[in-house]
Amino acid sequence: MEWGMKNRLSRIFNAKTGRSVMLAVDHGYFQGPTTGLRNIKKTTDPLLTYADALMITRGALRNWIPAEMDKPVILRVSGGQSILKELSNEIITTSIEDVIRVNASAITCSVYIGGEHEKQSIKNLSKIVNQGQDYGIPVLAVTAVGKEMTRDSKYLSLACRICVELGAHIVKTYYCERAFEEVIEACGNVPVVIAGGKKIEERAALKMAKDAIKAGAVGVDMGRNVFQSNNPVGMIKAVRAIVHDDASINDAFKIYKKK
Ligand code: R5P
Repeated sequence: MEWGMKNRLSRIFNAKTGRSVMLAVDHGYFQGPTTGLRNIKKTTDPLLTYADALMITRGALRNWIPAEMDKPVILRVSGGQSILKELSNEIITTSIEDVIRVNASAITCSVYIGGEHEKQSIKNLSKIVNQGQDYGIPVLAVTAVGKEMTRDSKYLSLACRICVELGAHIVKTYYCERAFEEVIEACGNVPVVIAGGKKIEERAALKMAKDAIKAGAVGVDMGRNVFQSNNPVGMIKAVRAIVHDDASINDAFKIYKKK
């Protein structure tokens, strides 16, 4: 692997554990000012210390994040739809020059396998993988799951494997209770992180993170289950304990409860 690519990946993954707690706050690119992200600075300021990387769009980065921030940025470079329309209808919104300008450590877009605009989303991923190869910038592929899709290991394996075959360096997917290790296996040596999905009860979210790690995931790229929690700092610390220290669910839950 090329030096720049290696160096950027090493900023995202903790050198000791090889794992990562990514904080996702890119939801506004199709959800607008969703709960917890009306003022991104207010949300991220107390959380960034505990995150290994920040997933965000260029507009939000420039608006709400101080340039002195020292966490690696995973830049969302796709968009083109909103919650009012068909979600799979994405394009690449951000030039590779702007990715470099904001000093991103990785770039990301969503792939909608089985979605109405599946091919366009695959083209998007292929395009940014090619650009990433040119400039040494790794690509995190997000397997976005349409409303009608079943989030089972068969579907997620299909979606994740396509991202791997297209050259993604990290795959982000949803967790599924049965046979998640098969999803991990389908990705070969490409590291897999899980999204949190819609806000659920904190203990359940911690269990999901724990089970994903046990099955072979190397971390989380979590948003709503952190910033929509009634104790976001406690929650990110708890997730961190699971990801980096292999904490039990009970111990992590105690960390979450501490104010
Ligand atoms: C979703 O479109 C974004 O890529 C989010 O970053 C991703 O879904 C992770 O956030 P959450 O944990 O809230 O699902």
